Amino acid sequence: MAGQVKLCGYEFYREVLGSAKYIVAPMVDQSELAWRILSRRYGAQLVYTPMINAKMFASSSNTRYRDQSFNIPNGEEGGVSDRPLIVQFCANNPEQLLASAKVVEDHCDAVDINLGCPQEIAKKGHYGSFLQDEWGLIYELVNTLHQNLKVPVTAKFRVFPTVEKTVEYARMLERAGAQILTCHGRLREQRGQNTGLADWAKIRAVKEAVSIPVFANGNILYHSDIAACLEATGADGVMSAEGQLYNAALFAPAPRPSYNLAVSMSSQETLTSRNIPPSHAPSLPPLPSPPTTLTGHHPPHADLALEYLAIVLSPSLKTKPPLSAVKGHLFKLMRPALAREPDLRDRLGRVCARDGGDGGVEGWGREFEGVVKEMKRRMDRDAAEALQGRTIEELATIEPITGLKVLPHWLAQPYFRPPNSTVQSARKPAAESLATAAGESLPKYVTELVPMIPTQTEGSMPTSTPTLASTLACH
Ligand SMILES: Cc1cc2nc3c(=O)[nH]c(=O)nc-3n(C[C@H](O)[C@H](O)[C@H](O)COP(=O)(O)O)c2cc1C
Repeated sequence: MAGQVKLCGYEFYREVLGSAKYIVAPMVDQSELAWRILSRRYGAQLVYTPMINAKMFASSSNTRYRDQSFNIPNGEEGGVSDRPLIVQFCANNPEQLLASAKVVEDHCDAVDINLGCPQEIAKKGHYGSFLQDEWGLIYELVNTLHQNLKVPVTAKFRVFPTVEKTVEYARMLERAGAQILTCHGRLREQRGQNTGLADWAKIRAVKEAVSIPVFANGNILYHSDIAACLEATGADGVMSAEGQLYNAALFAPAPRPSYNLAVSMSSQETLTSRNIPPSHAPSLPPLPSPPTTLTGHHPPHADLALEYLAIVLSPSLKTKPPLSAVKGHLFKLMRPALAREPDLRDRLGRVCARDGGDGGVEGWGREFEGVVKEMKRRMDRDAAEALQGRTIEELATIEPITGLKVLPHWLAQPYFRPPNSTVQSARKPAAESLATAAGESLPKYVTELVPMIPTQTEGSMPTSTPTLASTLACH
């Protein structure tokens, strides 16, 4: 560390992270290098690696795991064009965590500790949100990195049932030495079918209670949610996981009026035709009078998928993603059209590594490419037939059960898991009256959120009414 000054808190956030506001979440098997490259082209200003298991990474003999989870020998991960970057670990042992963090400290801007994972695997492995009640251990994990690492330590966590406990916890993390906190506004119990709303009010309370930067996580699905979230929480930046996976351009504003959401030109071509590289898209001023009510960029999903595959297949990319990551991305990106193109969906699903490993990217990557090219051909055909001088707003349809707006099927857009239909129909009127009260139509994702609207008896659920209202306010 001799000669190096370790910046802290806001100084670190400004000087090293460039005051990043648009942040791609850590995502196992999904925030890999190729996705990070694509994400930055569309406005992401800071990206996290997928979570790495510190126990496995700490052992220098486990080179396979190391190279798969953060490949240093290739010189690409954490290299100049992969910054700013935060590497995330899960751990329950300070020595193992430190040993692992030391390996990556020269290849990233900070090391994050995952204190939020709610999955069964985290329960078994005793990490993530299952450490939430062991504050002594958490303090030690954070403080060990704070004391011994060249780069700052940050932490990502879920909220507690009460604001008071959430704030107390955040303050403890700050005292331990965390230099940025990411607050995911959902409880440990909010996962799978119970995902529901993130509670922005709790994030706001955390932001007001600490003096280090805070990133807000949860409920970011459309571009307009970003400003709404920043406003509601006062957070310094907004982090998205699922919303960004379904639309890699989530952080980019809608291009100028000449932009036609349905044309066959890819967003890259659209921007290039204006001599604007995609990486500069986020600095474009917002539309003075947008052709649709959408404030964000919703490129044709097949174009995004092809652009992602071009990165994956590029001979200059040495650190290839595993087949599972690529398949996961393609299924999510092209989801709006997969139900109507079942043959392509089946072909995507059948692509596999012939040699049983992930080394044959030229083989399976080209197979994916063939499917996506065919998808693009069909989507361009559909768009040309449907548009005929009409706007996307005119073409947007109403989802029959919820009465909510859906963009044409060739455009990247968020996805909401169908909720339990009984619960949904029982609670839909409540959501509708909330929306009416807010003077807005229901955003599509209320279909997922509705089951989580708390009733008098759900005392431990998030206080979501104001959050829902503020979410609605941007639609
Ligand atoms: C595919 C996927 C993988 C994830 N992997 C991680 C992870 O490695 N580390 C982590 O802290 N959270 C992980 N998460 C949780 C997200 O980072 C985020 O906290 C959560 O999805 C809520 O954000 P969202 O509402 O924008 O989706 C993952 C989420 C998804 C969808």
